[in-house]
Amino acid sequence: MILRFQVNATDVELDVLPMARLLDVLREDLRLTGSKEGCGEGECGACTVLIDGRAVNSCLVPVFQVAGAKVETVEGLASGLHGHERLHPVQAAFLEHGAAQCGICTPGFLVAAAELLAHTPHPTRLEVREALAGNLCRCTGYQKIVDAVANALGRQGS
Ligand code: FES
Ligand code: FES
Repeated sequence: MILRFQVNATDVELDVLPMARLLDVLREDLRLTGSKEGCGEGECGACTVLIDGRAVNSCLVPVFQVAGAKVETVEGLASGLHGHERLHPVQAAFLEHGAAQCGICTPGFLVAAAELLAHTPHPTRLEVREALAGNLCRCTGYQKIVDAVANALGRQGS
């Protein structure tokens, strides 16, 4: 099928199998390899992207479901032109707090956190933990990730 949708504010048109996984189409057809595959079963959140502003596990989404939708991946979080990229606040906070180690989980956490901050700019630590409950990390122990997201916009959560 010919599928039209938007990825990171760019219109795309692709010839795809309707039941192909969105994760594979992003990584293989569009070369957006920021979204990672961990479990492939909807359990780890490494493949998290936004569809029309809502965080989803792209390993579980048949690509036909994004027809006409706006998909945002970790590659779309930073903004800027001509090599002067400006990190999304949550990316800057991850750097500042040392919230990434091996990095496999990091894109999924960043996307899920960006969704949270879009509607809750100053989340409490509990709100951060709840928003990130679907994302697993084997390295960091979560403390630094929660610290980073709770402080991403410059305010200590309670
Ligand atoms: S790879 Fe999609 S949830 Fe784990
Ligand atoms: S940093 Fe390694 S799994 Fe999270």
